[in-house]
Amino acid sequence: MADLKDPHRNTNGINGHLSNDHTTPPPSSPNAWSTPGSAAFDFRSDTVTTPTASMLAATQNCTLLDDVFREDPTTLSLESHIASLTGKDAALFVISGTLGNQLSVRTHLGGPPHSILADARSHVIAWEAGGIATLSGAMPIPVTPSNNHHLTLTDIRTHAILDTDNHFAPTRLLSLENTLGGTILPLSDCRSIATWARKQDPPIKLHLDGARLWEACDDVF
Ligand SMILES: Cc1ncc(COP(=O)(O)O)c(C=O)c1O
Repeated sequence: MADLKDPHRNTNGINGHLSNDHTTPPPSSPNAWSTPGSAAFDFRSDTVTTPTASMLAATQNCTLLDDVFREDPTTLSLESHIASLTGKDAALFVISGTLGNQLSVRTHLGGPPHSILADARSHVIAWEAGGIATLSGAMPIPVTPSNNHHLTLTDIRTHAILDTDNHFAPTRLLSLENTLGGTILPLSDCRSIATWARKQDPPIKLHLDGARLWEACDDVF
């Protein structure tokens, strides 16, 4: 087992990662990390934008200890940083956005019958291979925002299934996404949706796909 007091253990990775530390010099010869090219400015998707040399440096400096035993400083530090940034009790590092969504959705729900209401364009509805149906046994309720921009409480009240009659799949989760397709779901709408959801009996759970949350709240962070 690793000695946590070992002075030679590398514990500085997380600082390099989160503080955007540029102190590690870029590779001496130009490569795809140091000269990202035109893709760096291609915002069609995160699959075409390119990482930077400082991201590579952070990766090289991260610790490589065991996360199952909760002994990896980089992972622990990242999780506690994100928990405090978002005001949550805890955070869990997962290796993809899809995994984060599916785990979160599954964790929020009990067993069917139940439904999940989300924007019709959202990643959980449109881009996750029907995972909410297969992994959570949930009926998706895809909603097209009536303002053609973002979901509002009015949309949600119109489409949520609150009736618990045996014929229905009551809405147990609202899955929001911010940003969605480059548009911001305003904080005031998030708040009124959350307030309403928490007042229901039983309260309706809330999930936020925040794959691009940083883009939505530049000022806050
Ligand atoms: C809003 C949103 N959620 C989830 C994902 C899925 O992330 P990943 O590709 O890491 O599974 C993406 C990917 O682009 C996304 O844009």
